[in-house]
This record gives sequence, C-alpha cells and structure tokens, in this order.
Amino acid sequence: MNILVTGGAGFIGSHTLIELYKAGHTAVVVDNLSNSNPESLRRVAEIIGVPEIPFYQVDIRDCEGLEKVFSAHRMDACIHFAGLKAVGESVEKPWEYYENNIGGTLVLVDVMRRHDCKNIIFSSSATVYGDPVEIPITENCPKGQCTNPYGWTKSMLEQVLMDIQKADPEWNVVLLRYFNPVGAHPSGRIGENPNGIPNNLMPYITQVAVGKRKELGVFGNDYPTPDGTGVRDYIHVCDLAAAHVAALQCFSQSPSHSVTQTHIYNVGTGNGYSVLDMVKAFVRVNGVDVPYSIKPRRAGDIATCYCNPAKAKAELGWQAKYGIDEMVRDSWNWQRQNPEGY
Ligand code: NAD
Ligand code: UD1
Repeated sequence: MNILVTGGAGFIGSHTLIELYKAGHTAVVVDNLSNSNPESLRRVAEIIGVPEIPFYQVDIRDCEGLEKVFSAHRMDACIHFAGLKAVGESVEKPWEYYENNIGGTLVLVDVMRRHDCKNIIFSSSATVYGDPVEIPITENCPKGQCTNPYGWTKSMLEQVLMDIQKADPEWNVVLLRYFNPVGAHPSGRIGENPNGIPNNLMPYITQVAVGKRKELGVFGNDYPTPDGTGVRDYIHVCDLAAAHVAALQCFSQSPSHSVTQTHIYNVGTGNGYSVLDMVKAFVRVNGVDVPYSIKPRRAGDIATCYCNPAKAKAELGWQAKYGIDEMVRDSWNWQRQNPEGY
C-alpha cells in the first residue's frame, strides 16, 4: 500500500517508516517540522536503502497544502501521528492543543474523504483510560477522565473518528492506544529528540547518563506498587512501529468483515515496570551511572498502568518482541551517539 504518514519526521513516525518499507509498503510524509528535524527522514532513507522518502513540509491544518499532496499521490491509507504531545505545555496552552490536534485532524479527514481515502490509523494513548478501573487494562475498560488537554484531544479524537465511521461505513478506523514508547532503532541513527527539558522518563534518564542533567527526579515512592514508584508498560518503539504495519490488515479484509466498526487495540507489552526497575535495568545493561533522588509525586500521575495486549495478538498477530534490556540498550545507544539529538 501507499501510506500517507502525517508526523512522519517525529519519533514514532520515523521508526514506523522503516517497518512499512520492510513490509513492502511505500510512504509519503507530511510534517510541519514543529517538533522534528528533516534529518530524521534522511537517516530513515539511509537505513531503508532508498534515495529519499517523499516528504512535504505541510501543516495538516492547511487544507490547500494537503490537497496538493493528495493530488500528486494516490493514497491507500493514512497513519496519523501528527500532533502536539507535551502534557505540561497543553495545560498552559489548551487552545493551541485543541486547535492543532483536533482542528488538524478534522481538516485531514475532510481532505482524505474527498480523495476517497477512508482508511486511517490514529495514534491514541493509554491516557484515555484515565485512572483505569482494571489492571491489566483491556480494550473493554471504560475510558476515564484525562488530567490534561493533551489527553482530552486523544479521547475526543477517538470519538470524532468513531462517529465519522458510524455515519459512513466506508471508513475503516483503527485506534491504537500506545502505552509508554521508549528505545530507538538498533542502529542508533534515529531516536527520540525532545525539545528542552524532557517530560518523559526515558529521555530524562538518557540525558542524565550522558551528563546533560545532574540527576533524575523520581516522582514519588509512596504509590501502592512493589517499590513505591509508578509502574508503566514500556514498549520498544520498533515493536510499536510494527504494530502499525500489522494494523494495516484491517484495511484489506473483505468489506463484509471489516467495515462495521472502529478497531481499537492496546499497544503495549503487558509487563509493568517501575521507575526504579527502569533505572536499574539501564545501569545494569549499559554500565553507566544514573544518579537519582526521590521527589514529590507529579500532579496527574497514576500508580499503575499496563495493558493486556491479547486482542492485538489474536486479531492482528502482533506482539512485542523486545524486552526491557533491549529498550534501555537502544535508548542509550541513540543518546550516546547523538548527545545533541539530530
Ligand atoms: P513527535 O512530536 O516526535 O512527532 C509528531 C510529529 O508531528 C512531529 O514531527 C511534529 O513536527 C508533527 N506535527 C505536529 N503538529 C503538526 C501539524 N499541525 N501538521 C503537521 N505536522 C505536525 O511525537 P511522537 O512521540 O512521535 O508521537 C506521535 C504521535 O503519537 C502523536 O500523536 C502523539 O500524541 C502520539 N503518542 C505518543 C506517545 C509518546 O509517548 N511518544 C504516547 C502516546 C501517543
Ligand atoms: C505521560 C503522560 C501521558 C502521555 C505519555 C506519553 C502525564 C500525567 N502523562 O505518561 O498523558 O500519553 O506521557 O507522552 O504526564 N517519572 C519520573 N521522573 C521523571 C519523569 C517521569 O519519576 O523525570 C515517572 C512518572 O512519575 C511515571 C513514569 O516515570 O511514573 C513514566 O512517566 P512518563 O514517561 O512521563 O509517562 P506517563 O506519565 O506514563
């Protein structure tokens, strides 16, 4: 298939491009580069062994710009990564988050349907479960209250896409609810490149390890978890990328079978690791020191969040291959080789 990859220059998008080409697909990337560097696409092309990945520096809110892309390329499906994702910033700038993430997706979907491309995979998040009522979380777990506008954009966009699919069953909608993506391509050529002070655990750990930050603050050690620190379902970004390729099969089933509903999948490993588990694994595998100290809890954090990934295995034949050792190894390999990012 030829796939439109919005946000393809970003962390998860760039890794997904590699998996798409490996599986014999081709891609066209649309990205406004608001949180990425085109160098990522150059390196992706190098890894895949193609001269270049077709790329348009276009904002998904720009209807005319998207029209041009769709006029130049026949698209079979879209994997929609483009969006703003900094939780704290979304609290400061809710309008900007709703306008970019929701406004942008509405424009994208409108242009897609005009070009008769009605297959979309959307990057959702475990954050839509709020404080989950069951652990491990299955897809049947009810959605919950998000603690920030970023999370609400994911929850609301799930609803928007489900409603569009219900009204026009020609649409095929796949919602992938990512747990905590970490790691990097094993080559160390592409990886996560956060602007400023990282919000997320793994890039913070790698920046401490490389000497850019003094120590990791561990946000709370009094949670009801085995060691008191927060437990999450970390997933290697290459596994997450492969889940998108597996999800494309939702678009090629016979119409009678595939088009009746929105497909929702948890994308995690099913294993919960604490903050200190991650730090210890990082130190053990990489032989580097990661000084840390215990800090107060971070507002909005929950104690435990990991999934039951059985549905994705049963229906898509997908399951995570990489474990915690590969996650911490590849995160460090990327950071060590690229201390300043791209
Ligand atoms: P990222 O910031 O690295 O990638 C997102 C890309 O979208 C960036 O390249 C950015 O420049 C682009 N973009 C943003 N707004 C745009 C717009 N209006 N028009 C065109 N391009 C635009 O983030 P990521 O970690 O690769 O995340 C990809 C998607 O997955 C996002 O939707 C994110 O919310 C979602 N997600 C990420 C995580 C995570 O922990 N990384 C977890 C759950 C869900
Ligand atoms: C966070 C967001 C979530 C978003 C996800 C991916 C919040 C409340 N949730 O999830 O909406 O989808 O990122 O972008 O922000 N930790 C530390 N020290 C740090 C950083 C993190 O101890 O410097 C701890 C956290 O308390 C948590 C764990 O590490 O227990 C993972 O944190 P993080 O990587 O930010 O992910 P989430 O909070 O799960």
